[in-house]
Amino acid sequence: MENTCIWPHKDYIDVNQLTPELANYLMDLAEQFRQVNNRQVKKVPTLRGRSVVLFFSEDSTRTRTSFDMAGKRLSCDTFALGKSGSSLNKGESLKDTALTLQAMNPDVIVIRHSSSGAPKFLADRLGCSIINAGDGWHGHPTQALLDLFTLRRRWNGEFKDKELLIVGDIAHSRVARSNVDLLTMMGVKVHIFGPSTLMPAGVETWPVTVHKKFKEALEGKDAIMCLRLQQERMRGGLLPDLSEYSNTFCLTPELLRLAKPGCLVMHPGPIMRGMDLSAEIADSVESTILEQVNAGVATRMALLMALCTRNGQEISE
Ligand code: CP
Repeated sequence: MENTCIWPHKDYIDVNQLTPELANYLMDLAEQFRQVNNRQVKKVPTLRGRSVVLFFSEDSTRTRTSFDMAGKRLSCDTFALGKSGSSLNKGESLKDTALTLQAMNPDVIVIRHSSSGAPKFLADRLGCSIINAGDGWHGHPTQALLDLFTLRRRWNGEFKDKELLIVGDIAHSRVARSNVDLLTMMGVKVHIFGPSTLMPAGVETWPVTVHKKFKEALEGKDAIMCLRLQQERMRGGLLPDLSEYSNTFCLTPELLRLAKPGCLVMHPGPIMRGMDLSAEIADSVESTILEQVNAGVATRMALLMALCTRNGQEISE
């Protein structure tokens, strides 16, 4: 596998570090790794001897497992640290935890944290590369990469004139924020719809069309991205009744028929069947949910490789 790295950044904290050229560079690299992941032997020696720490102080299934798998398939050593079972629970600060990890000379720390800005805080203070695996409400920039990769494959690389609707709890969604910025940069027209109490403050400054009615919002869409209600981030009183929410905002086959034929249904997961989307939709041919999970390994392999070879060093298998 030949690669001349054009990636310029020490860290990956926010999709605003990307340009269309850099996003396409990562997508092309991820496509090569997708093919590696489909082989019987899913491992390349590319980053042998490198160390990646997975520092997840919030729960995760997809992101943590796929970074772990991505690192191992590139022959990195990976080390997992969670809030539970670490000295964070004894009161050690984020900064001291990170300095302690850095003293062990990792090449990359992948961090998920409930505070917006925690990955940037570490990136400004540590010499190793930092990857944001989700920080508070701020961003989930690797989710946006894997969503872009999924759409690029489904749409044969054509983003211009495509229209995507994001539905649900936009206010608490770091996935929505990262996807709005990255997909808009790639030429997709992004629309949003959800309860008025779950619209973010300042939404009028976002580069999106905000809809008030689900049926209208669905018309002409090429893809719908459903979101989970992030009840763990709600301070209460935002939704009077969950069954009323699901009656209005759950994507059903009847509603999906109002979008374009062949409209894709995306979800970053974890999905709540019957709340965000119906079970029938989740298991339908239009659903890309498991393709997105699959894309997570290849895109995170691409990102780890880009960060670890960023001085233009050539890597060959
Ligand atoms: N999409 C996503 O971030 O899922 P996890 O919380 O399981 O990592």
